[in-house]
Amino acid sequence: MERKKIFITRKINPVGIKLLKKYYDVILNDTIESPTKNLMIQKVKDVEGILCTLSEKIDSDIMDAAGTNLKVISTFSTGFEHIDLDEASKRGIYVTNTGDILSEATADLTFSLILGLSRKVVEGHSFIINKKWKNGWTPNLFLGSNVYGSTLGILGLGNIGSAVAKRAKGFKMKVIYNNRHQLSKSIEKKLHTTFVSFDELLENSDFLSIHISYDKYNFHLIDARQLKKMKKTSYLINTSRGNIINENSLIRGLQNKWIAGAGLDVFEKEPLPNKSKLLKLKNVILLPHIGSATVQTRNKMSKVAAINLHNILSKKKPLYLVNKERELKKN
Ligand code: DGY
Repeated sequence: MERKKIFITRKINPVGIKLLKKYYDVILNDTIESPTKNLMIQKVKDVEGILCTLSEKIDSDIMDAAGTNLKVISTFSTGFEHIDLDEASKRGIYVTNTGDILSEATADLTFSLILGLSRKVVEGHSFIINKKWKNGWTPNLFLGSNVYGSTLGILGLGNIGSAVAKRAKGFKMKVIYNNRHQLSKSIEKKLHTTFVSFDELLENSDFLSIHISYDKYNFHLIDARQLKKMKKTSYLINTSRGNIINENSLIRGLQNKWIAGAGLDVFEKEPLPNKSKLLKLKNVILLPHIGSATVQTRNKMSKVAAINLHNILSKKKPLYLVNKERELKKN
């Protein structure tokens, strides 16, 4: 019997590819780079499933090019803003993601940015490797600020935000949060968090960490007005999506010391353009979108993305479905 065709947009951790090769005729774009739109259009012809990453835009052109056989788009990510969800639902195409499995890894990275910024870890390292350490222990060398006992503001207390809140307890931080909806008292108690308004969150956080997922309603939610409300001594951390912050305003804010610094794992444009003024700033830590980048998590993501795709094509429930069943117009 002829095997169903599926397309994997780029090299992912082998575990998922291996699993899919057992059942399908796998068309693998075997490179670390994302394919161009043209290449994707050629490769998706007649496939029943696409396994993509967050760097590929899966829009109606790609769905048209695949044709009516396409039943599932499985993304090797939790974010799914790169997929035209309405269009997929209208066509009866299931969209799946990797759910909450990267929450702990992303929370760990968030904390590394909090600690790295406040304790000048990267500056200290550069100081030594640039052979500038001449005086041994020095009373005022690289004075940072306390993480212990400070106030952590969490914007978006979902899976990742909650994992960050749990870690904050160990540092005896006061945790405040803002969310679309206030969470139940029992969850707030369990996480030792207090709900505050968005403005209160901006005004009172020593570290403000963003954990909302991106959609068009929160484009540039953090702009000059919001940055100016933050404490001059505070740090902004973003491990969610770059578009939530107006990067030009943030650059102005960092140049003019509206806030003390920023830890960014995500950017408006990725990779960060070489001409970005962020590269000239001293009060930042910049990372190349590696929130979920642990061996364990990426292997799990690969497996989950493959299982999601396989489950849909074998008429079983996926582990994480993004479209709501009722919105899926069945072919
Ligand atoms: C995601 O999955 O959405 C992260 O940003 C990358 O792993």
